Amino acid sequence: MPNMLVAPRRLSVQPRDRSRKSQSKPLPRSKERFRLSALEALAARIRVCIKCPLHASRTVAVPGEGRPTAPVMIIGEAPGKKEDQTGQPFVGSAGKYLDHVLEGTPFTRDDFFITNIVKCRPPGNRTPKAVEIDTCTSDYLSEQIRAVNPKLILLLGSVAVKKMLGISSVDEAREKIIERDGRKYLASYHPAVRFYREDLAQKIKKDFALLRRVLRKLRTANGRE
Ligand code: URA
Repeated sequence: MPNMLVAPRRLSVQPRDRSRKSQSKPLPRSKERFRLSALEALAARIRVCIKCPLHASRTVAVPGEGRPTAPVMIIGEAPGKKEDQTGQPFVGSAGKYLDHVLEGTPFTRDDFFITNIVKCRPPGNRTPKAVEIDTCTSDYLSEQIRAVNPKLILLLGSVAVKKMLGISSVDEAREKIIERDGRKYLASYHPAVRFYREDLAQKIKKDFALLRRVLRKLRTANGRE
């Protein structure tokens, strides 16, 4: 039974944690508030969306969460079972692995805005269909990108890489900055592949090390903002 009006357990879009020592210069409060309210308005629309068939089988939609002014946006594929129950992205086993990778870096989740190509769980975790991807990205993801305006977008997995870059393999897209429509992208494997491709663990870590270097360069080039 679809439950389209269930509120997530906590606010998905988090304002910046100002108590934490951050590496980037904070944006003026007014800009941060503006982005936060744009993202909250989008999240409210996503939670009641019935534009594609995925709404019928979801428990709750998963709009995304993180800092509205994050320098990096992470885009995965689609919510899994745990995400569908909680309304939060990357909180299941793939999310645990993402946290594990982040442990070896200077990043915490607070440095990112994290979302997915589609905001509702496909039944049985199947790959989202083209119509679902196109509807969700044109109606929501593109607006989220505009609102957050990240310096860099990290795409996790082939669905995100194909949709955002038009490149069909992660292998081909990773290890370099790719520019599309004035935005900079990096690509890596979806964290879930780690559970059946142990050999990719090192490559994923390498991709996050590259993310760190690229971000540092961008900050230096832009006078730290
Ligand atoms: N896999 C994804 O791509 N996104 C999530 O939020 C969880 C698992």
